[in-house]
Amino acid sequence: MIQVLITEPEPGTTEGIRHVLLDADELDIVGFAQDGLEAAQMAIQTQPDVLIAHADLPAVNGYDVCKLVSLAAPKVACLLLVDDDMPDTTARAMQAGARAILSPDFTSQKLLDTITDCAQVKEIAASKEYQIVTDPEQMPITIGLISAKDGVGKTTLATNLGILFAQRFPDQVVLMDMYAQLGDVSVSLNLKPRGSLVDLATYADELDHDLVEGALATHKSTMRVLAGSTMPQPVPLDAISVPYIASLLGTLRRNYRFVFCDLPPVLWSGSLYILSRCQHLIVVANLFELTTIRDTANLVRMIVDGGHVTRKAIKLVVNRASPKDRFSVGDLQETVGIPVSFQIPNDIEAAVTAANKGEAFVLTQPKAPLSRSLGELADLLLQATEPMEQSDTDTPDWKAA
Ligand SMILES: Nc1ncnc2c1ncn2[C@@H]1O[C@H](COP(=O)(O)OP(=O)(O)O)[C@@H](O)[C@H]1O
Ligand SMILES: [Mg+2]
Repeated sequence: MIQVLITEPEPGTTEGIRHVLLDADELDIVGFAQDGLEAAQMAIQTQPDVLIAHADLPAVNGYDVCKLVSLAAPKVACLLLVDDDMPDTTARAMQAGARAILSPDFTSQKLLDTITDCAQVKEIAASKEYQIVTDPEQMPITIGLISAKDGVGKTTLATNLGILFAQRFPDQVVLMDMYAQLGDVSVSLNLKPRGSLVDLATYADELDHDLVEGALATHKSTMRVLAGSTMPQPVPLDAISVPYIASLLGTLRRNYRFVFCDLPPVLWSGSLYILSRCQHLIVVANLFELTTIRDTANLVRMIVDGGHVTRKAIKLVVNRASPKDRFSVGDLQETVGIPVSFQIPNDIEAAVTAANKGEAFVLTQPKAPLSRSLGELADLLLQATEPMEQSDTDTPDWKAA
């Protein structure tokens, strides 16, 4: 049944429409509004499938009714009755958000067909695709980790954060080692790679779900891992093309809700592509030496000015923070020009014990300061991922300076 709300400024003015609708079994008149304001109010409050409104209405004109209703009740289709069908009338109606227009002297059949067309939005709302695109739990999130230099803790953070996410979202997390030359994600997790970023590049043109799945190793936390390389010799980066990376990331994003990427400090076309697709880009820095701080500032400038990442996606994270650091969080913020989002303590005990065992400290030492800190970072990333938080206000409670 298609529910229709009619605007009738004077009693009896829509007599013709009323009769056509009464005779049609699949249509149900759910009400009459007197003027434009009432039409918008009733449409928004009662959510009919179709609102029929004249362009020329008292109080609020029909175009403005369409604007109000399409903004506040997008599932209500507005059918605008106009005085002519000149091209600029159509354009104006579309801009106002009308789903269809009818010019004067329409036939009964034309009216019925137009109402039925308008109501097709109901079928879209019932489709599988609609469920997927509107469900926040199905929104794929890519989280990249990058730094100006190696050795600041990217792999440590990527592996342990990935595992924390996998504990909360079993089988929904994959970690991709983007080091095509010397990846060490697999080594640090003591995993035997089944395939790698480099191996899969050979099949770039025929990449599909099965091929990609076949290359992933599974960590005991359920996190999947794609190794960087299994080749004994270094592979030139241009063997990893952008179309291949795009197809690989697309396949992973369809199969996994969270894709973590451990990115090398070298900016090449493939890593720039990944950067541009990250909802969160964790830029990891230490406060040990001025060169690292300056290089971090240069890195951020290059990727932001190059239009690869938005400032909002960047989460500047200090790793191994300690009171003994030569530089302060303030120094880093000032040089880089963005606030520090989070600080992770220097916890050699947890990091080294875990690294030597090929174990993740978030699993073996969940209470260690380092593990707790990563738990907080995971919470913040998840909060910042919620649809509400995507608006202008960046997450206020990031642990800043
Ligand atoms: N928060 C931390 N506290 C103490 N040691 C850390 C911390 N984070 C990383 N490390 C250690 O720093 C070294 C470099 O870390 P790694 O993750 O390999 O850096 P990257 O991937 O950026 O090259 C490793 O030995 C690691 O155990
Ligand atoms: Mg690393």
